[in-house]
Amino acid sequence: MVSVFHGYFARFIHMPLTSKPLAPDTWPAFAHLVEKHNGIFGGCWCISFHLEPGEKRHGAAAYRAMKKELVRQGRAHAALVFDGPNAVGWCQFGPTAELPNIRSKKAYEEALGELPDWRITCFFVDRERRREGIANYALREALREIARLGGGTVEAYPEDYTGQKISSSFLCSGTLGMFENAGFKKARKIAMHRWVVVKRLPSKQTSRTAN
Ligand SMILES: CC(C)(COP(=O)(O)OP(=O)(O)OC[C@H]1O[C@@H](n2cnc3c(N)ncnc32)[C@H](O)[C@@H]1OP(=O)(O)O)[C@@H](O)C(=O)NCCC(=O)NCCS
Repeated sequence: MVSVFHGYFARFIHMPLTSKPLAPDTWPAFAHLVEKHNGIFGGCWCISFHLEPGEKRHGAAAYRAMKKELVRQGRAHAALVFDGPNAVGWCQFGPTAELPNIRSKKAYEEALGELPDWRITCFFVDRERRREGIANYALREALREIARLGGGTVEAYPEDYTGQKISSSFLCSGTLGMFENAGFKKARKIAMHRWVVVKRLPSKQTSRTAN
């Protein structure tokens, strides 16, 4: 009986959030979160922004293997958010060459000046844990990690659906509000609801404990 109650209430008891970089030691937690959500979009495995636009598409098993290999080689970055031992979300970022495939790339390239040092391309949060601030926390931790890795110009491509009801799947690149709250400035619009936002980050050594 006690264990039944414990099992029921454990769903509502959350540890303070922490974050760790996506890396070989955190791969199992990342993979577990992706598998819990059927590969994300039926098998994306957070690979699409790593691919060159127009690159041949593969299936879920191939994307899983590709992502694992990129992680092993240190060529796939993310701030992975943990509640205790469980990964509950992430913010994907990386040097621009690591993430060539942004959305609205044609419009982006039409008015392109200099490429940024870093891109922030995608967020994902466990569907049971949304609207708790996990994506906002993941963004802060990604920025800490970028600063730790040397800083520089950071670009992101969030959506602005202010005042409209929208499926959370459309918000995988984050919301304009999230980035403005984190100090990003609007640079230009590249689609009806999509902005390029920019922030310059100095290099900094920081800790990774939540709040
Ligand atoms: C979008 C997503 C990352 C948001 O995560 P979250 O932890 O619920 O977000 P937070 O609670 O930190 O809120 C972040 C901001 O987004 C806003 N937001 C979150 N969900 C929203 C929704 N469905 N509609 C409008 N705004 C939303 C919040 O109001 C908050 O705004 P604020 O910072 O201006 O206050 C999450 O819903 C998700 O994972 N969606 C699926 C994304 C996906 O499919 N990714 C696949 C990889 S491409």
